[in-house]
Amino acid sequence: MAKIDEARGFQVIQCDGHGLRLLDQRLLPGEERWLDLADVNEAAAAIRDLVVRGAPAIGITAAYAAVLAARQRDGDTAGWRADLERLALARPTAVNLSWAVARMRACAESAGGPDADQLYQEACRIHEEDIAANRAMAVAGAEQIEPGSGVLTHCNTGSLATGGIGTALGVIAEAWRQQRLSRVFADETRPWLQGARLTAWELARLKIPFRVIVEGAAASLMAAGQVDWVVVGADRITARGDVANKIGTYMLAVLARHHGLRCMVVAPSSTVDANLDSGRAITIEERDPDEIWGAAGLVSVPEGFAAWNPVFDITPAELIDCIVTEQGAHFPPYDFSRPGTAL
Ligand code: MRU
Repeated sequence: MAKIDEARGFQVIQCDGHGLRLLDQRLLPGEERWLDLADVNEAAAAIRDLVVRGAPAIGITAAYAAVLAARQRDGDTAGWRADLERLALARPTAVNLSWAVARMRACAESAGGPDADQLYQEACRIHEEDIAANRAMAVAGAEQIEPGSGVLTHCNTGSLATGGIGTALGVIAEAWRQQRLSRVFADETRPWLQGARLTAWELARLKIPFRVIVEGAAASLMAAGQVDWVVVGADRITARGDVANKIGTYMLAVLARHHGLRCMVVAPSSTVDANLDSGRAITIEERDPDEIWGAAGLVSVPEGFAAWNPVFDITPAELIDCIVTEQGAHFPPYDFSRPGTAL
């Protein structure tokens, strides 16, 4: 694995305009295996099967996949458009996926058709913009955190989930660098264990001391005075500031409010869905219950066992103290059409 670049993080999505390589996140931290994807169908499967995950990373992968599709379709615009439609359906909740697909479509329209070289340049721009947004958010978010603070994060929001240093994890890394943090906690994030496997892996690589907790420990941790900020990412943010993020985020926001702590959401503008007002309109992805049984260590499911596996939830804007985008820190009532401000 390449060394971590402080401004760009480490790159787990690599595309030269002809092939696409992804670090297989299903195997971490045990094994660092790269997958070479040949076409748009393999890219859609990689998104669906969580080889790559995290809202911005999904969007960037889709943008590069649109380039591969254009090379294969070789001027067949209708076929290319059908490829993109399938790609956009790979996962429903993160708006970055449909946002990136829309940008690639617009690029093809202005070029008079899906020209692979022009699309590759657009995909690289999407990737570079995310890297820059990550940097800006890290600085704006870290500024809100008082020295000596404890933070609790959820899921994985670092280089594995984005194009650059990350969203919430970028803020945590920057706050650590500025010596503002005394304690860092990561929720294990069931059932897929993005916290215990991926955030732990990233924090260890960044040499930031941390402890993983089971989700059920969050309330006790807060009651013990160990947490000042809950810092999380987002998969979709509505115009009023309702936030879809990994299942369990809503629970943390309720707990934070109960304990008088603050909740910060960190996400680029590409995660804001200005077309939606209420979070109730967001489609919540439900995945195979076998993910729950797998996390429980069950290889075969005993007769009569049943499970429900929604993988995102909605946190109402009223429970969020600050939403950081690359435009700065936003405070309630949220209005993303105006640049964010510092406190
Ligand atoms: O199911 P996942 O792992 O794709 O869910 C990821 C999250 O919920 C992240 O918090 C979100 O995408 C922000 S990543 C910068």
